[in-house]
Amino acid sequence: MADERRPEGMTRITTPELARTFIEEQVEALRGQIGDQKVLLALSGGVDSSVVAALLIRAVGQQLICVHVNHGLLRKGEPEQVIEVFRNQMNANLIYVDAVDRFLDKLAGVTDPEQKRKIIGGEFIEVFAEEARKLDGIRFLAQGTIWPDILESEKGIKAHHNAGGLPEDMHFELVEPVKILFKDEVRVVGKELGLPDNMVFRQPFPGPGLGVRCPGAITRDRLEAVRESDAILREEFAKNGLEGRVWQYFTVVPDFRSTGIRDGKRAFEWCVIIRAVNTTDAMTATVEEIPFSLMSTLVQRITSEVPGVNRVLYDFTPKPTGTIEYE
Ligand code: XMP
Repeated sequence: MADERRPEGMTRITTPELARTFIEEQVEALRGQIGDQKVLLALSGGVDSSVVAALLIRAVGQQLICVHVNHGLLRKGEPEQVIEVFRNQMNANLIYVDAVDRFLDKLAGVTDPEQKRKIIGGEFIEVFAEEARKLDGIRFLAQGTIWPDILESEKGIKAHHNAGGLPEDMHFELVEPVKILFKDEVRVVGKELGLPDNMVFRQPFPGPGLGVRCPGAITRDRLEAVRESDAILREEFAKNGLEGRVWQYFTVVPDFRSTGIRDGKRAFEWCVIIRAVNTTDAMTATVEEIPFSLMSTLVQRITSEVPGVNRVLYDFTPKPTGTIEYE
């Protein structure tokens, strides 16, 4: 199974029927591979790891141990949703690790984007490895590797092993049940497995999470402003029929303040930048034309509901010259 490739001419999984067939085959293959052993999975709540979790729960139930690391850089409601869907609804064996303080303390005062990324990635591996060491007799490690990851790693564009970087002494056999699927197929399979739409049709979200949307040194209050403004933006896009139509949208709170007025007094506060872009491959992107009335609602809600924010700006820059993310 470990060196299985996408069969030449495999039918694209586009329908519930095709997804059901794939699920049945995978469940059988997973049972054959895993037997009565235990499997460990880092469950971020992103599409790929969620679908892998749901497949493994169906195949081996409580033999799967999911570890959800909350690094404090997730979007509003995400850690709660992982617990609700997997622990409460699917009865998964889920270990929830609140590592918020640990990550934010390590990141305090760090301004360089690459350094921030390294700290987040390195700390993630460390927390995950610590949890793995507490468990006995785990033979397998599941990963949400998908077919484009394999193609890209073969071309030398990126290493595909998400959990690559685990300490040398930790040896696991890999379980990669969606490795022959394209992203759109993973979503169809996820839907058929009963995962909620807002998990399955989620927009892309970078590994370092909201950390790249809180430019410069991350502070807890500015990070909260990113999280709250992002939640408002997502809510308003959903209400106004833009969800699922606009490829990616989020907010950024840069590390500077400007003068404003609140309740008749000077308010020296941050600004929120809104970014909403369309693309097919993320190599280039165009800016979504948000209706002016929606923009006004967003300004009104963000400046009144998000503490410490007195101004809202819209980023009109296509890629190039601006990248989609800010760091
Ligand atoms: P950029 O900013 O390079 O992003 O135009 C292209 C797409 O990749 C997503 N993405 C990331 N971006 N760091 C990033 O800066 C990451 O670790 C990362 N992971 C994914 C990004 O959200 C955009 O969709």
